[in-house]
Amino acid sequence: MLQKPKGTADILPTHINRWHTIERVVRRACQRYDYQELRTPIFEATDLFVRGVGQATDVVDKEMFTFYDKAQRSMTLRPEGTAGVVRAVVEHKLYAAADVQRLYYVGPMFRYEQPQSGRYRQFHQWGIEAFGSASPLLDAETIALGHDVLTQLGIAHAALEINTVGTAAERGRYAQRLRAHVAPIADQLCSDCRARLGRNPLRILDCKKDAALLQDVPVLMDDLGAESIAHFEAVCRHVAAMGIAFVHNRRLVRGLDYYTHTAFEWSVPVDTFGSIHAIGGGGRYDDLVAHLGGPHTPAVGLAFGIERLARVLDAQCVGERPMLDACFVAMGDAAVEAIVPMLSSCRRAGLAVTFDALHRKPKAQLKFAVRAQARYAVIVGDDEVAAHTVVLKHLATERQQIVPQEQLITMLHASEE
Ligand code: HAM
Repeated sequence: MLQKPKGTADILPTHINRWHTIERVVRRACQRYDYQELRTPIFEATDLFVRGVGQATDVVDKEMFTFYDKAQRSMTLRPEGTAGVVRAVVEHKLYAAADVQRLYYVGPMFRYEQPQSGRYRQFHQWGIEAFGSASPLLDAETIALGHDVLTQLGIAHAALEINTVGTAAERGRYAQRLRAHVAPIADQLCSDCRARLGRNPLRILDCKKDAALLQDVPVLMDDLGAESIAHFEAVCRHVAAMGIAFVHNRRLVRGLDYYTHTAFEWSVPVDTFGSIHAIGGGGRYDDLVAHLGGPHTPAVGLAFGIERLARVLDAQCVGERPMLDACFVAMGDAAVEAIVPMLSSCRRAGLAVTFDALHRKPKAQLKFAVRAQARYAVIVGDDEVAAHTVVLKHLATERQQIVPQEQLITMLHASEE
């Protein structure tokens, strides 16, 4: 039997409503914050990610889906959205706009990771990126938009951690101090951290295996200059003023190389996905536009994993199949004729209605109405056809009443929950 590739998922009709809910909430929130959608290609030149995300990151080093096209150009399925958005901003000179450019995207990303609960090789992200302002208020606004989406999805309990990773120069100084501190115990570190120590030492800070060994390492905050500290303090002040709870985690470093100053992440309790708990994260990346060939343009953004958001909604039993407003139950041929115009007018009036297309016996049609999660059964038999009425039965309470056909739409609208 043919099967889907390892690390991918079919999103079945039983689950799609959660996805629709997430996408609806995300698009509305983006609109409220004046973000506009940008769609970029799913594959890009490999070099974009090597330069943009960073050669020393796990994503570029081990996880890219890279292939050669027929002209022997190296291409890669995008492992994240930021690099492609920056490429588009530079290519179309969007940075030249007088105002801050606020962009968002929703779509598939690809990382060749070891699949496990909540970790896929094809997954989906919703992300936002804002270009053209170094204001800490924009960092805070980015966090607020993420927080709003979580709140609207009923995931407000996700924990938010914020940190600063300073500028590239400050990080360079810190990396030296960190290496010197860790050198005496380097051979006790796990193999991943030993490799990171040479190429990307900050990543050892969030290693779970070596956490105990690395308890007393120096912190980056001590290498930051006054400007970086002022930026970080302003971000924290603004986020607090927005009523958003967070923790300053001095050891939070993100897995991608482009961050400067602010870095943040949301997580849910570990039991949701086993060992994984991050559902979204982001930060400021003031050097990336220039690094990819544009003029110096400060920027900040975030991304959430849609599979992970959907899993949290699953665990909370939110967003199952939407309720239908009504299911028509037609008893006899005349009744079938009579419900045809009623189905059409209900649908044109914005109501979600269905009928039993197998034309079963009335009892089976009522059972179907319950299975279809309709709020009402609209029952029509010979008597109702003659009197131009319907029997409107509220399926949860089993209360029923006779309603003139011309009042059906008004009645269904009036009772919408
Ligand atoms: P990231 O932390 O690598 O950041 O990914 C963001 C989110 O994507 C994660 O928190 C997680 O929910 C989801 N995700 C990542 N990998 C997988 C996977 N293999 N399976 C399922 N979900 C996954 C970025 O990608 C940055 N581009 C975020 C950003 C935007 N920073 C600034 N602007």
